[in-house]
Amino acid sequence: MVNRRWWKEAIVYQIYPRSFNDSNQDGIGDIQGIIEKLDYIKNLGIDVIWLCPIYESPNADNGYDISDYKSIMDDFGNLDDVKSLIEEIHKRDMKVIFDLVVNHTSDEHEWFIKSRSSLDNEYRDYYIWKEGKDNNKPPTNWESFFGGSTWTFDEKTEEYYLHLFDEKQPDLNWENKKVRNKIYKMIRWWLDKGIDGFRMDVINMISKDQSFPDGQKDSHEDYGDGKPYFLNGPRLYEYIKEMGEEVLFDYDIMTVGETLNFGVENAKKFSEFNGKELLDMVFHFELMSVDRDDESKWIKEDIDLKEIKKIYKKWNHGLCEKGWNAIYLGNHDQPRIVSRFGNDKEYRIESAKMLATMMMTMPGTPYIYQGEEIGMTNVAFNDIGKYRDVETINHYRIELNKGRAKVEVMKEIQKVSRDNARTPMQWNDNLNAGFTQSTPWINVNSNYKEINVEKSINDSDSVYHYYKNIIEIRKNNIGLIYGRYKPLLEEHESVFSYIREFKREKYLVILNFFEQELSVEIPINIKSKEQKLLISNYDDIKLNNNILNLRPYESLVFKLS
Ligand code: NOJ
Repeated sequence: MVNRRWWKEAIVYQIYPRSFNDSNQDGIGDIQGIIEKLDYIKNLGIDVIWLCPIYESPNADNGYDISDYKSIMDDFGNLDDVKSLIEEIHKRDMKVIFDLVVNHTSDEHEWFIKSRSSLDNEYRDYYIWKEGKDNNKPPTNWESFFGGSTWTFDEKTEEYYLHLFDEKQPDLNWENKKVRNKIYKMIRWWLDKGIDGFRMDVINMISKDQSFPDGQKDSHEDYGDGKPYFLNGPRLYEYIKEMGEEVLFDYDIMTVGETLNFGVENAKKFSEFNGKELLDMVFHFELMSVDRDDESKWIKEDIDLKEIKKIYKKWNHGLCEKGWNAIYLGNHDQPRIVSRFGNDKEYRIESAKMLATMMMTMPGTPYIYQGEEIGMTNVAFNDIGKYRDVETINHYRIELNKGRAKVEVMKEIQKVSRDNARTPMQWNDNLNAGFTQSTPWINVNSNYKEINVEKSINDSDSVYHYYKNIIEIRKNNIGLIYGRYKPLLEEHESVFSYIREFKREKYLVILNFFEQELSVEIPINIKSKEQKLLISNYDDIKLNNNILNLRPYESLVFKLS
């Protein structure tokens, strides 16, 4: 028996509001701009929109540094705009989830301003303050995700505060019940405005090991690894359960946790409490590190398909009875998927379609990041002055200070920077890709005349139409949503193939993951004439007695029964 839920059957579209559509021509995307494009999103076949943060923020980390949870960033509009947005989304029979960023706030949040003002004010304990260690060293040797120490010394009270991200993003102290209560109240306030759930930012970092030990550190490294002490901490389950009991369980919503190093066992454990869903699904990062060096996210390695297969198998089998997967290949923190896992040059269209086929035929809820549906690519600016992302800019500064050559560091940034995904949405071939008529906050990718929504809609063979088709196919074939996952050809280095099986329905997916043409014997009897080819990214099939000749990035989905 499958446990059907609306959010399992949904296709999610992620919007990065700053880069989506600028309605008031100030160079920054906004809420009215999103409203203008809702029909476009609906038309693609989308059910749920995930909106990255739109709250008031000084923008040290583009809205992930919130200075007021209940106000809207001026750049984006106001609360009335948000109300209309929610209404307009619901009118079109779609849902909307917001980003919930409660591991940290901005240092400009009222709570932090008060907290840092003295040692004994009522808000001091809302954040994590500690005295320095011997010789004025930070309390632990942990390294921040954005480079440097996780601790900043505050002159006024002569203590350090913790920030796992930028120094303008102090971590909230979840040990303090007053903090938790305020967060739950804020969550209820938003749910009462009619939103349909949350994507929970770095949610498995909210509970910290209260002994604050130093992390392991190799002699050549400047910092230690604090992750064991702030990921999946001792009180995490208790906090998430409390959040459920105090607010979330009162609503029919969806939740997706952003969870680094969580593992299948945690995903299962956190999926349920007393018959109610806690975190409906999580974004794990295993595919996001598959092409990265163990030591540094900035070092890009080749794609190892066998590794990718192992990851899917582990998660698909692990969560087949209990829990649910979130399927994503990119988002606002990752490079563009076609540049990363496909080929953004001669096979851009074929490889974007192949990746879409994989996403839409996997168990779990698929998340499409804006622009993916037209095959947008990395931007690779050649000048650091064009980048806007705090993580990228810090990386550049830190590496150059170490004496590394500019060209080398720029090469890393061009491949890996989060700004690759943050350039404006390419709507048409007009000025600034139709995103804005004034100067955009970040440059448009120069390939917008070639790659844009208008052109894609007018070309029936485009990546956009392929997405639209395959989304419809997924919706019309429940087995592609709930069917069991059975891998085939597990040892094959370049062909990814699997079966999805649900009651009497059976589907076969075959993906050539690379550009080399090859022949492969499929261990299932396919007779293309009798069995239905649901979709493919080539016009014909080269099949002879179960031997398939696969062209670059060719992908096929058969309905076998
Ligand atoms: C994860 C978000 O996706 C990312 O954009 C942000 O920088 C960090 N969390 C910190 O909030």
